[in-house]
Amino acid sequence: MCGILGYVGHKEAEPILVEGLRRLEYRGYDSAGLVTLTGSKLHLRKRAGRIADLAAYLKERPAPGCHGISHTRWATHGPATDSNAHPHLSADGEVAVVHNGVIENYAALKRQLQEEGVTFRSDTDTEVIAQLIARHRDGDLVEAVRKALALLKGTYGLAVISRRAPDLIVGARLGSPLVLGIGEEEHFLASDPAALIGHTEKVVYLHDRELCVLTPADWRVLDADSMRVEACVHQLDWDPGDADKGAFEHHMLKEIYEQPEALENAMRGRLSDADATAHFGGLNLDPQQLRRAERLILTGCGTSYHAALVGEYLIEEFARLPVEVEYASEFRYRNPPIDRNTIVIAITQSGETADTLAALRESKRKGHPTLALCNVVGSTIAREADGGVYLRAGPEVGVASTKAFSSQVAVLTMLALYLGRMRHLSSLQGAQMIRELRGIPEAVRQALDCHDAVRAIARRYAGARNFLYLGRQYLFPVALEGALKLKEISYAHAEGYPAAEMKHGPIALVDEQTPSVFLIPRGPIFDKVMSNLEEIKARGGPVIAVASEGDGETAGQVLDRADDVIFVPDVPEYLQPLAAAVPLQLLAYHIALLRDCDVDKPRNLAKSVTVE
Ligand code: AGP
Repeated sequence: MCGILGYVGHKEAEPILVEGLRRLEYRGYDSAGLVTLTGSKLHLRKRAGRIADLAAYLKERPAPGCHGISHTRWATHGPATDSNAHPHLSADGEVAVVHNGVIENYAALKRQLQEEGVTFRSDTDTEVIAQLIARHRDGDLVEAVRKALALLKGTYGLAVISRRAPDLIVGARLGSPLVLGIGEEEHFLASDPAALIGHTEKVVYLHDRELCVLTPADWRVLDADSMRVEACVHQLDWDPGDADKGAFEHHMLKEIYEQPEALENAMRGRLSDADATAHFGGLNLDPQQLRRAERLILTGCGTSYHAALVGEYLIEEFARLPVEVEYASEFRYRNPPIDRNTIVIAITQSGETADTLAALRESKRKGHPTLALCNVVGSTIAREADGGVYLRAGPEVGVASTKAFSSQVAVLTMLALYLGRMRHLSSLQGAQMIRELRGIPEAVRQALDCHDAVRAIARRYAGARNFLYLGRQYLFPVALEGALKLKEISYAHAEGYPAAEMKHGPIALVDEQTPSVFLIPRGPIFDKVMSNLEEIKARGGPVIAVASEGDGETAGQVLDRADDVIFVPDVPEYLQPLAAAVPLQLLAYHIALLRDCDVDKPRNLAKSVTVE
């Protein structure tokens, strides 16, 4: 999952490409490069490392020209080296390609080309594409690209220029996102519209198997047979400042602090006091269909999968509807028997995660109504689902998802209310949920007050190599999420478990060096969780507890037994995931800082996983 960007117009391309790559860096950041064209000369500049390393190199060797393509990489084939960085040129130096995706049959194609005497400079699958295009080139670059693509198996979002085709970029998409940006006498191509901020708000989302042809004056979209396609131009409404860090040191911290506002946005105009229920404008499924549903399948990856697990508790409690939660990467191949009245809901921040997209397509293929809970407007999953709900969390740049998780949980809570009011939930119960939901942004705002306490606790445990995160019921998924946050940004080993599961094995991990983070707010099973906490204490394990403030009885017991306690506002049990997630996000953030990790761009990761 890389980021690609192309520009053809009347301005110097290099600064536009570098600034755009910075906005795409969340997609992959182990190496970067660009190539521009003046006359018939290609100016190739690429470096292992961050965009900043490429920018420093460009200071020494600027790349002139108003026409170019660029790339920031998340390695799928070959280590992060200068030669494996994109763009890749054909052996004859004619054609340059940047690519996001995986070519599954590249090895066979490469062997064949090598037998025909073609020399390769890199270990990548992408270089095969450049060689094939050059191989098919007889004057028409678009045709050469089309013929080369016909030989590929796999996924791609790619951009191509050729030194014998001035002022021309050819783009193509299959499986990986690609948008075309329309400007005044200039055009853009990007993996994500975020890279076009400040340049244009008019974009065209390419569909699978479509190509596009850009010149300074014109753009067109073609289907796989080079027939022109009537493409729909979307107007984006976003504030350029949205994706900036502002006064915060990191995007992740900014996004943690944006959660109260993100929750208000997620609820705005969707809670109806009159009907004591929630309303969603884009479900596109008639209430009859929703009422007839006998089962929901929630599917996603990573943090979105954890939000789905919270959704299972919510929908089963408030709508009494059976819910199954599936890892999208497993669900797409497992082929489970699913009965007719099952609705499949894909949960995703980016809307481009390949496994979740494939799970959605598989469900549609089997005729199940599909919905998407998604943050990125116009993303592939949002467009391909039958209907859905946008999270309205705003751009999430930090690789570690935070505000999107809370917004997903808030939307799932409103969905539980909506489906519940169609079934057993009374208007009084609905009205109470609405009151409690409206109070949660403020509760999360107060939960942020634990920041200083969490920073101090992080100092005490930053050196630990292993952590356990323990919770029960609604907080078991939050324990999983807390462990994921710590793993992905601090590289410490962490496991989340249902607290009562410990005695069935994992408790063997407990010792003085292994802190356990216990989610133990006030609630119907407080005593049960307290005895789980005692089991850890009995074996010398340090305990960091997240408890409900203001409840003297439970708070007192926790303070007595835990080594460190973080208090969060006391909210109804089904809303505790939204309050308890905050200290876990901050704990991971500060432990990562103390371990000198790059919080916003953790190693080996990328924000949206567009390859299998
Ligand atoms: C979470 O912090 C990670 N970035 C990752 O697990 C992420 O949740 C997963 O890749 C799913 O992404 P999506 O929500 O954009 O589909």
